[in-house]
Amino acid sequence: MELSEQPKLSGLAIPVKALATADKKLNPFPWFKEMRQTQPISFDQHRQCWDLFRYDDILAVLKNPQTFSSARPAVGAVLLGSILSMDPPKHNQMRAIVSKAFTPRSIAELAPRITQITEELLHQAKGKQQIDLVKEISTPLPVIVIAELLGVPPEDRKLFKDWSDVIAETVEDDSEATIKRFMERRGRTRQELDQYFMQVVAERRKQPRNDLITKLVEAELDGQKLQDEEIMEFCIVLLAAGNETTTNLITNAVRLFTERPELQEKLRQEPQLMETAVEEVLRFYSPILAMNRYATEDVQLNGQQIKKGQQVVTWIASANRDEQKFSDAEQFVADRSPNHHLAFGHGIHFCLGAPLARLEANIALPLILKHFHQLELVPGSDLKPIPSTFVYGVKSLPIQFKPG
Ligand code: HEM
Repeated sequence: MELSEQPKLSGLAIPVKALATADKKLNPFPWFKEMRQTQPISFDQHRQCWDLFRYDDILAVLKNPQTFSSARPAVGAVLLGSILSMDPPKHNQMRAIVSKAFTPRSIAELAPRITQITEELLHQAKGKQQIDLVKEISTPLPVIVIAELLGVPPEDRKLFKDWSDVIAETVEDDSEATIKRFMERRGRTRQELDQYFMQVVAERRKQPRNDLITKLVEAELDGQKLQDEEIMEFCIVLLAAGNETTTNLITNAVRLFTERPELQEKLRQEPQLMETAVEEVLRFYSPILAMNRYATEDVQLNGQQIKKGQQVVTWIASANRDEQKFSDAEQFVADRSPNHHLAFGHGIHFCLGAPLARLEANIALPLILKHFHQLELVPGSDLKPIPSTFVYGVKSLPIQFKPG
């Protein structure tokens, strides 16, 4: 394809000028606040999309999939045919059938294994006084859990990690050459993923096992079964939606512990607070900053006229700091309750993996606090944000500690 024929990227696929620097990416919250107060629904000419910052406006969009569709244009999207990009009625069907394989009960059964994996990872840090939490704990944990859940060989974890990285990636600048490289990388990754999962699905059809892919092969609703392509799409979504998000939840929590030593002590003394504290981490440092929707008709939203076909970016991380919704919105309140954050989305696309992410965080964080005392950032560390417009986290988190 000629460069001049390149489709235009828009919305979350290209950088937001207001968050161009590393400092702003690490701390987008002042920008969110300013936008909530001054331009809560605004059109960005450069990115050709609407940006929404207030809780109620975002909720209105997420609650109305008829008008605000998840079906994305075929521009650089790896997840085009997946559940994430489906609208009703196809979405209802798909969600009902995958939910049969991906049940809260099957997730809860993973608890002992998640504990064991975390203990093993922590054991590798024994004798050390500092580690990079991202590399040693919060990246491998969800990747191993998903690989085991899907029933793929442990040696393929590295591939999983590399693929997850490409899926979460966005371009750092929107020059034609960068976009071309980006699209090529995505195309290549998509081909590799297709080949990999087609083979695994074919193997499970021949030889069923006790794993999620087999359950997906067997899942049935009103006599309907999933096609190989659909199973493959779903596996790719699990990689895309489940790995880096959970990594960032755990990393963001530990980053908060280093920023608030008193929080570490509180959680050690009152471990029953962990559950609400994890929800507050999700609200305060939301692993997903924003999601895309597309208007299916001309629509008025709080005084703004959104036209059919226009893209709407819902900044859920801003909604989660909305002072109209949360008291002391800019404060971390470990026992906040209720806590109606939107970190897992809302409505028909509400995160299917939320029970798994919560379970992993609620197992890993107490173990981290048990093994690492006086947790702090290694002095002089320069935190670097993940180069993405919609994923919130740091590339590495060098921590030092006393053994617990
Ligand atoms: C959907 C966030 C972990 C699987 C979503 C959505 C959000 C989200 C915001 C809604 C997207 C939209 O409305 O367009 C998160 C966060 C996680 C996490 C913050 C970790 C802290 C996981 C895990 C899995 C998973 C561990 C699975 C292993 C999914 C799936 C969907 C989804 C399949 C699509 C549901 C649908 O379209 O009906 N997630 N997620 N997520 N998530 Fe998660």
